[in-house]
Order: sequence, then C-alpha cells, then structure tokens
Amino acid sequence: MKKILILNGPNLNLLGVREKSIYGSQDFLSYFEELKQQFETVQLHYFQSNSEGGLIDKIHEVGFEFDGIVLNAGAYTHTSVAIGDAIAAVTTPVIEVHISNVHQREEFRHHSFLAKNCKGVICGFGLDSYRLGIQAFIK
Ligand code: DQA
Repeated sequence: MKKILILNGPNLNLLGVREKSIYGSQDFLSYFEELKQQFETVQLHYFQSNSEGGLIDKIHEVGFEFDGIVLNAGAYTHTSVAIGDAIAAVTTPVIEVHISNVHQREEFRHHSFLAKNCKGVICGFGLDSYRLGIQAFIK
C-alpha cells in the first residue's frame, strides 16, 4: 500500500474558521476523513505544524520512506529557503498544494521557495487541491 503524507503548515489548523471566503467553511479533519474513504487503497497520514522546524522535522522523518508528500506550507511557501532545502534533501517526492489560487492574490504570494524542488504544484481548487495531489501520486 502506498504511504502518502498530507502536511499542513501555519494557520491551516484554523480551516473552517479562518477567512472562510478564501479557504471555505470545512475543517481539515472532517475533510481528511472523506479523503480516507475515497482512497481506501492508500495509507494516508496527516500532520500539521505552525512552526517551520516542525514541518522540516516531519519532512526528514518520512522523506526517505513514504511514497509522496502533499504539502501546503501556507505562508512559509513564500518565505522559507529551509523548507525548500528540506524538500531537496529527501528522496520522497513532494507536491505543493494551495487551497486558493495564489496567483490571483497579493504579489508576495506569487513566488514559491518550494516549487522548484517539487514534483508539481496544484493551486486554486479549494480543498480539492489535496485530492488532486493524492491522485497525481497514485497514477
Ligand atoms: C495557502 C496560500 C498561502 O499564501 C497562505 O499564506 C496560506 C494558505 C493556500 O492554501 O491557499 O496560509 O497556502
């Protein structure tokens, strides 16, 4: 069975509560339950951290063992050289995802320090961005 980690960064623990007009009204844990039902043949794992080091530690922990990481690094996407380096350091492929279409938003969200080291980037499909990321790994 393929092992895939969904890794969420800062403020994504507040999904369903935070800026609903941008990120929707569903909380992530209930969405994760739906994903597990949709992908019964995949071992899906979930981890969230508000700290850069927490995300890097998790990438190191699973990054030589899992088949894929679907990563929404939140605002660290646009600031973190260290997370970009962590993605480059491991062998597990990473797909960068965003709920919102970051290219329709403020200029500072248009750049990613991660994308260059990722297998691909999916953004703008709401929570469905995560499902599309998993789908890409199991193809
Ligand atoms: C986000 C987009 C980021 O710019 C923002 O900082 C987030 C969420 C998204 O999923 O749309 O926290 O990654």
